[in-house]
Parts: sequence; structure tokens; C-alpha cells
Amino acid sequence: MEEIVQKKRMLSGIQPSGDLHLGNYLGAIKNWSGRAEQFDCFYFMADMHTITVRQTPADLRRRTLEQLAQYIACGLDPEKNTLFVQSHVHQHAELGWVLNCYTMFGELSRMTQFKDKSAKNAENINGGLFTYPALMAADILLYQPDLVPVGHDQKQHCELTRDVAQRFNSIYGDVFKIPEPYIPETGARVMSLNAPESKMSKSMPEGCVFLMERPEDIQRKFKRAITDSDTENCVRFDPENKPGVANLMSIYAAVTGKTYEEIETEFAGQGYGAFKPKVGEAVIETLRPIREEASRLLKDKAYLEGVYRGGAERAAYEAEKTLRKVYKKIGFLAR
Ligand code: TYM
Repeated sequence: MEEIVQKKRMLSGIQPSGDLHLGNYLGAIKNWSGRAEQFDCFYFMADMHTITVRQTPADLRRRTLEQLAQYIACGLDPEKNTLFVQSHVHQHAELGWVLNCYTMFGELSRMTQFKDKSAKNAENINGGLFTYPALMAADILLYQPDLVPVGHDQKQHCELTRDVAQRFNSIYGDVFKIPEPYIPETGARVMSLNAPESKMSKSMPEGCVFLMERPEDIQRKFKRAITDSDTENCVRFDPENKPGVANLMSIYAAVTGKTYEEIETEFAGQGYGAFKPKVGEAVIETLRPIREEASRLLKDKAYLEGVYRGGAERAAYEAEKTLRKVYKKIGFLAR
């Protein structure tokens, strides 16, 4: 008789607070696709997280749908991956509240993303911004995943998720699977092209390459990328002394699959002037099919609606199993 092996599970999400960029792609999405044979995969648009910062409603709606089209264009086949919108699965908010009560003030105060975001939004340091990691823990733990593929900046939130899950399990027994973050070797920390000491982010658009951007705009950004003030003009991997070049090399490595040594050999004797447009070209060619496919999918709203409806149904079915268990364990009277 054929043995039935339970697939491991993978889950991750991205906030539709801005257009998807190369950091999101290399740090996260690229590592989500092609996994569906091996893993049972859940990926979502984290719209509930975005309102910790004020959003324009029409833009949020548009970006959520665009993000779904881009997920599919990046190779996430909706037949094989569960793709959904966070706010469509009410169990996230419900478990989020429960986990708030098992997450400590001190733990939340140590989160670097909270510190950064509250410094940037001094006029709107709301409760949601502070308790956000408890909602993120709920996003993850509801689905009992084995792996959570994220970029380096989400490592701390994933570690907090594990701590909260362990705390809960130590009181009530094995309710939650303890998930592992999965952080890629290259691309986990893509830095801004024009300020390599900061991570690439939509808030600094000149140093940020968006998935849907026109090739000529992408190439312009790479040609203007900050290299280094040294006079060496040599493509060598030295993140401490040459952070701009190291960043470009890690982008090139992530999109071509080449090692740093191979890249150094390829550009030996050539300066930054030859290197930068080559990186631009490689990125353009990686993003071209994604942009074209996403634009095509966005013309078919009915298809996208079908995908997110089906995804929410499948996600809610799984999420509900965990939520029921949690409610029972903590002593909520069954309906
Ligand atoms: P978010 O929306 O800021 O980013 C989404 C993903 O992109 C990665 N990323 C980067 N990776 C490399 N270089 C960069 N410059 C870069 N910028 C962003 C992030 O590490 C992340 O993997 N809290 C999460 C969203 C979230 C989530 C979850 C993730 C909500 N619930 C549950 C996983 C599981 C966030 O704000 O990521």
C-alpha cells in the first residue's frame, strides 16, 4: 500500500502598503515559488497590518489586488498554493487578540520595526503599531506551518512568534507547531541602491526597484547606484569597506545564481561603469516576464476574485481548526 506522507507547510505574507519591490522579491517571494510539490503553501496579502500606518482606502484596495496578480506572476500557481487576503479570514483578528494576552509589553517594546516605524510616524504611534507582532504571530500559528520564508528584517518577529507559541504550549499543551524562519543566503537584505546603509524600501523610491517598473527606469536607477568612494574601481565582495558594490553583487548573485567569486572573475579588469548596467540588465530580464504576466492578469478581475475567494475559503478552513482548539484550551464556552 502506498504510504501517505503529510506534506510540510510553508506560510508567509507581505503588506500591500506599497508596490512590491526587488527586496520583497529576492528576500521573500522568490523563495516561495516552486515549493508546492514539496510543501503545502499559504501566502497572503497582509492588509490588516498596513493600517497601523494611515492608508488611502482606494490605493490599499488596488494594491491588494495588484499584489495578488504579482504573486501569481512570480510563479505561485493558485491551484497549488493557497493565496488569500488576510482580512478575508476573520480568524486572524480573533487569534491576534488572544495572542496579545500572551505577549509581553517588554517583548513588544524591543521590536526594532516598532522603534523604526514609531520614529518615522511620530504623529501616529497607535496601539496597533505596538501590538502588530502578536497579529503576525497569529497569522503564522493559525496555519501550523513548519517554515516561514522571510527576509532578514522579519527574523525578530519570527523569533517572538516562537516564544509566544512556546509560552502558550507550556500552559495548555501542544497547541501550536513551533515554526522556523527560512531566510535565504542571498537576497535576504537587499539595500537601497542610492543609500547602501539602508535597506531597500518603498519609502526611498530612488534607491528602490519596483517589480512593475519600466526597464528604462530600472536601468537608470542601476546606473546611478552608489558604488564606493574608494579609488579601486574594482568589483570585489567586501561588504564592510565596499557596501554599495557588495549590495550590487548580492543582487546579481541572487538573480543569476552566480557565486561572488564567479562575479569577481567575470568583471576582472572592468570598472563599476561596466558592472552596474550589467546588474541592471540581469534584473530587468528577471522582472520582465513577471511584469508582463501581472499586467495580463490584472485585466481579468473576475479571475483574480475567484482566486482570492477560493483562497480565503481554504485558509479559513485550516485557520478555524486551530482557533477552535485555542478557544477550548483557554476556557471559552463553546457555542
Ligand atoms: P513586509 O511587508 O515589510 O515585507 C515583506 C517581505 O519582504 C521582505 N523584505 C526584504 N527582504 C530583503 N531585502 C529587503 N530590502 C526587504 N524588504 C522587505 C521582508 O523580510 C518580508 O519577508 N510583518 C511582515 C508581513 C507579515 C508576515 C506575516 C510575514 C505579516 N504577517 C506572517 C510572514 C508571516 C512585513 O511587514 O513584511
